[in-house]
Amino acid sequence: MTEVLRTLKQPLTLGEWHLPEGHSVAVATALIHADPELYPEPHAFRPDRFRSFQPRPWEYLPFGGGIRRCIGAAFATHEMQQVLGVLLDGLDVTLASPHPATPVRRSITMAPSEGVRARCALRAQADRGTVAQGGGREA
Ligand code: HEM
Repeated sequence: MTEVLRTLKQPLTLGEWHLPEGHSVAVATALIHADPELYPEPHAFRPDRFRSFQPRPWEYLPFGGGIRRCIGAAFATHEMQQVLGVLLDGLDVTLASPHPATPVRRSITMAPSEGVRARCALRAQADRGTVAQGGGREA
């Protein structure tokens, strides 16, 4: 899946491919993000991997790249940090769905086909503050 598209204003040679002016090219972001050479066990949910791996712009591009890169990237990242920080600091969330989720395309993004059921329990006051809010980085 990709939504990073460009129309060639002039012919382009890309490896063995000779592409004429006017053709559309797309960056296969999902394939890049699933490259095991960059992301070992790419389908494992392991956000900690970004602590030790600082991808270059062409290795991690959920917001596209270049001059048409998403103008909402900083806002969306900040919003995610704030919302997830509050939710995860106040709740213990565990998976309640009996089956693994199947990712499907939904408009311009990917989502679990049947939704995902989660069990949320309020965290004890003493356990709060262990999830850092903000201070993260965009990519
Ligand atoms: C997690 C949230 C978001 C994701 C993953 C996302 C992703 C993207 C991607 C992949 C592109 C295409 C970039 C390219 O072609 O290089 C894009 C473009 C764009 N996004 Fe976002 N976006 C997000 C949130 C937002 C928000 C919150 C706004 C506005 C407040 C926004 C406004 C735009 C606009 C206006 C463009 C077109 C930019 C242009 O063509 O010059 N996006 N976004």
